[in-house]
Parts: sequence; C-alpha cells; structure tokens
Amino acid sequence: MTFDLGDGIRLRLVDHGDAEAYAAAYDVNRAHLAYWDPVRDESFYTVEWHNGLVTQYLRDHADGRAARFVLTHDDGRILGVANVTNIVRGAFHSADLGYWIDASLAGRGVMTRVIAIVIDYARAELELHRLQASTLLENAASQRVLRHNGFEQIGMAPKYLRIAGEWQDHLLFQRILSDS
Ligand SMILES: CC(C)(COP(=O)(O)OP(=O)(O)OC[C@H]1O[C@@H](n2cnc3c(N)ncnc32)[C@H](O)[C@@H]1OP(=O)(O)O)[C@@H](O)C(=O)NCCC(=O)NCCS
Repeated sequence: MTFDLGDGIRLRLVDHGDAEAYAAAYDVNRAHLAYWDPVRDESFYTVEWHNGLVTQYLRDHADGRAARFVLTHDDGRILGVANVTNIVRGAFHSADLGYWIDASLAGRGVMTRVIAIVIDYARAELELHRLQASTLLENAASQRVLRHNGFEQIGMAPKYLRIAGEWQDHLLFQRILSDS
C-alpha cells in the first residue's frame, strides 16, 4: 500500500530494509527534532539500533499493536514518519498518533496530507473508533496539522511526556473516526 504525494515523495508502511534510511533520517534531523523529541542515546542513530526497531515495528504490526508509516523519497531517503501506536481494542478501540517531517519539507502542507491518509487507514484498515495525539503547548505547527484533520482538543495533561529531558505538559487531542 503506497500513496504517491508527488515530487518523488511517497507514504508507505515500514518494511524490511528501512533501518539504514531511518537512522540517517534521525541523524540528519537531530537539531530539528531535539526540542520536540525524547533525548536519544548516541546508539539510537546507528543502523544496528534501527535494525532492532524495524524488527519490533514489523512484529507490532503483525500483532495488531501498531502501524508505522514512512514518508520516502525516490532517492531512498526517509523524509518523515507517521505512527499509529498503542492500539487497544475492546471498549476503547483507540490508538496514539505521532509524526515528524524532515526539516527540508516542513511548512509545505505535506504532514497535513499525510495525516489525512493515516486517518483513512486507521478507520478503514485498522477499524479504530478513535485516534489520540498530544503536543507540547507551544507546538503550533503540530496543532495546526491536527485541527486541519478534524482533531479537537480534549484537555491538557500536566507532566505527560518526557521531552527534551523534562516531564512536560501536553495538550491532548482526539479525532473520532467511526461511531459504529
Ligand atoms: C509538526 C510537523 C510534523 C508539521 O509538519 P508540516 O509538514 O510542516 O505541516 P504542514 O505544513 O502540513 O502544516 C503546518 C501548519 O503549521 C503552521 N505553522 C508552522 N510553523 C508554525 C509556527 N511556528 N507557528 C504557528 N503556525 C505554524 C503552518 O502555517 C501550517 O498551518 P496552515 O496550513 O494553517 O498554514 C513538523 O513541523 C515537525 O516535524 N516538527 C518537529 C516534530 C514535531 O513537532 N512532531 C509532532 C510532535 S506532536
């Protein structure tokens, strides 16, 4: 399942063989992501580490726990990710949504389009009732992406995630996908 976004950019599910491009993408975007991401050990930026992660991602997908998308360029680079994780069934039928885009592509409306595709996938393929996302209070770009895609703010969670080395407050958003 591949979605063509034009200019050589495509969205697809993570696959075997993505580890090298993943590691390179995180390395290139260290400064871009530092303010918004957890602190990473140096080992995180190695192909070996990402080989292990990709194996885990594929296992999680097979087990119905997550669906991880990569934004690729035809030249082989990974230019962003969009992750549906922590899928819980039963009365919840809900999951978390996370994403980032390469610094060179930011501000062109790409992630807004990517999240629209991921929402369709979460509804049609994963049959989820709801997606949840959280942003730092000052992450206006991320909040715009969510609101463009029909997410509503449902609250503020104090000290919610450890980002850039500090437990930080987050705005919580949800999008109801299906009432049936
Ligand atoms: C958040 C992020 C994924 C957005 O991706 P993107 O492709 O740049 O998003 P889009 O271009 O589709 O939309 C960005 C929107 O934010 C707006 N925006 C961008 N920077 C902004 C800023 N500093 N203040 C206010 N609005 C801003 C843009 O104008 C646009 O809104 P508009 O369509 O109404 O004009 C990207 O900025 C990123 O990777 N950030 C670092 C990691 C991150 O924050 N991940 C999300 C964690 S919750």
